[in-house]
Amino acid sequence: MMLETIDMPITDLHPSPDDIIGDTVAGLSSTPKWLSSKYFYDARGSQLFEQITRQPEYYLTRIELDLLEASMPAINDAVASFAHVVEYGSGSGRKTHLLLEGLDDPVAYTPIEISRTALVASVERLAESFPRIEMLPVCADFTQPVPLPLPARETGHTLVFFPGSTLGNFAECDALRLLCSMRATMGPRGQALVGIDLEKDVALLEAAYNDAAGVTAEFTLNLLARLNREIGSDFDLAGFHHRAVYSRERGRIETHLVSRRVQDVHLDGHTFHFAEGEAMQVEYSHKYTDARFEALAARAGLQVVQRWNDPRDWFGLRLLQPVSVG
Ligand code: AVI
Repeated sequence: MMLETIDMPITDLHPSPDDIIGDTVAGLSSTPKWLSSKYFYDARGSQLFEQITRQPEYYLTRIELDLLEASMPAINDAVASFAHVVEYGSGSGRKTHLLLEGLDDPVAYTPIEISRTALVASVERLAESFPRIEMLPVCADFTQPVPLPLPARETGHTLVFFPGSTLGNFAECDALRLLCSMRATMGPRGQALVGIDLEKDVALLEAAYNDAAGVTAEFTLNLLARLNREIGSDFDLAGFHHRAVYSRERGRIETHLVSRRVQDVHLDGHTFHFAEGEAMQVEYSHKYTDARFEALAARAGLQVVQRWNDPRDWFGLRLLQPVSVG
């Protein structure tokens, strides 16, 4: 269904609203306890994430930006002209600009995003900078296959853009599901440009998620503040501390909030008991080797056709396309 709330059409696929109480009760009732990292990004959480990207230890954003800028001529050579660029999440920042600027005459740009507010803000900003590119925002959950709006001009093919190593925040089975949906969304002739953080020295990885200024710790604890405010839980923020440790076995940073003492937390008529030192899992950030990423992509019917890394091999951009059958 099309809604004309701004001066460009938004395709609204009516994504189901988040069940924040249900998800939180489920996580707190599990052993070990967990909370969903998708709830990090309220207004304060998004601000704190912006700050994280500017911390000296958090290399990901800086390196990906430089890598994208340096690789754009090669990316443009590898991607057919007149692309319909589809971004997972609402772009509009520097990465989206670099991509749209560096591609040969992209026909249309479709951010896919659950939040209408973020979607509108993103396309309004981009429309000013790229008047020739048709803006076709879609309000939907990108973890599901998304039927794309048809651009007015003829398009060569779809290019899905999923930067930031956001894929790494999904548990492996969810990342696989997401890549399968991506394959369906891009269609048989589509491509995807995905940013992935690469496995490296453990000290560098752990420093990136335990910055000296404590911004990541504040970001993690803000999740509890959000839950208290929005669903009436009574987490004592001073009763938990942030811990981010790299698991070599699993190839991921595992972030926990650890209870400083014996305590009870109440939510929606339930009481959840925490032991002293009990760790509640709140985020995964997977780090990939080429072998691991290619194996995951292959399980989703995708193959890596081009790869670009920064000079130290810390971060990578991978161009994927459906494995051709027959
Ligand atoms: C958004 N995402 C890729 C970030 C990451 O690196 O996993 C979120 C983050 N969490 C703590 N620091 C940054």
